[in-house]
Amino acid sequence: MQSVKERILELKKQKNAVILAHNYTTPEVQDIADSVGDSLGLSQKAAATDADIIVFCGVSFMGETAKILSPKKKVLLPEPEAKCAMASMCSADQIRQAKQKYPDATVVAYVNTTAETKTAVDYCCTSANALNVVNQIPNNQILFVPDINLGRYVKEESGKDVILWSGFCPIHQCVTLRQVEELKKAHPDAEITAHPECRLEVLKVADFIGSTEAILKHCIASEKKEFIVLTESGMGHRLEAACPDKKFYFTNQSICTTMKMISLESVLDCLENETGEVILDDEVVKDAYTPVKRMTDILG
Ligand code: 13P
Ligand code: SF4
Repeated sequence: MQSVKERILELKKQKNAVILAHNYTTPEVQDIADSVGDSLGLSQKAAATDADIIVFCGVSFMGETAKILSPKKKVLLPEPEAKCAMASMCSADQIRQAKQKYPDATVVAYVNTTAETKTAVDYCCTSANALNVVNQIPNNQILFVPDINLGRYVKEESGKDVILWSGFCPIHQCVTLRQVEELKKAHPDAEITAHPECRLEVLKVADFIGSTEAILKHCIASEKKEFIVLTESGMGHRLEAACPDKKFYFTNQSICTTMKMISLESVLDCLENETGEVILDDEVVKDAYTPVKRMTDILG
């Protein structure tokens, strides 16, 4: 009898599907994916693929971004109810109201927002390019949504008048300076790498700040043998596979439970029955495409 994994691989071929998985998904899911990466890398793969079906193993805003970039493709989410907590902290209506208060501000939205929210903003960005996007915008006043931590980091680094929103990622917000100091005490030779969704005081003690994929690349290139990794612990799988001779330390509670909802069984079910399709209004796709396209144009 075929295993779940074998059945997934067979169906993938039969249906000309591609499986994309975020760095926070479980090791089994990462291992059957065609590409594993960060939000930016996966959205670029989604835009470039010639597959008929994209199975997006990630939280729902990631599948929506794939649909915005590849509207003619069928995008399937193995777990459509797996949502990003931060993405629910900022709606299109709230942004429209804020624009009345800050009429001169350019609105930049982190990609961790719903498709609907993206329709109300000027530019989109990911953790890999937030600073670059903000720096390239001619306007000095930026309303940055929804992540207060990424917004603070961008404000500090760009020196621009960045108006902050009060959203956050519960996982990265829970990483405290004290925990980092304790980890550093236990592993004094370890380099500290951090995702920019962490609090500013945590970022200030980091040796390297970057997206999940940038953290991976940094750890591969670094001569150091030990790393404190201040992001979700799913990253451990790729880090350990890429650097078997290096050690990685995470804080205990760094688990994004919705990313972990995606299992091999749910991937098989969605491929077999074509369930969990991302359906977006044509108008939403059109309006949300503009800020995403502006981001990709800025990056050349
Ligand atoms: P990356 O784009 O860096 O992978 O981050 C996505 C995310 O949700 C981080 O919490
Ligand atoms: Fe959202 Fe945080 Fe999970 Fe990333 S780790 S998907 S920001 S809840």
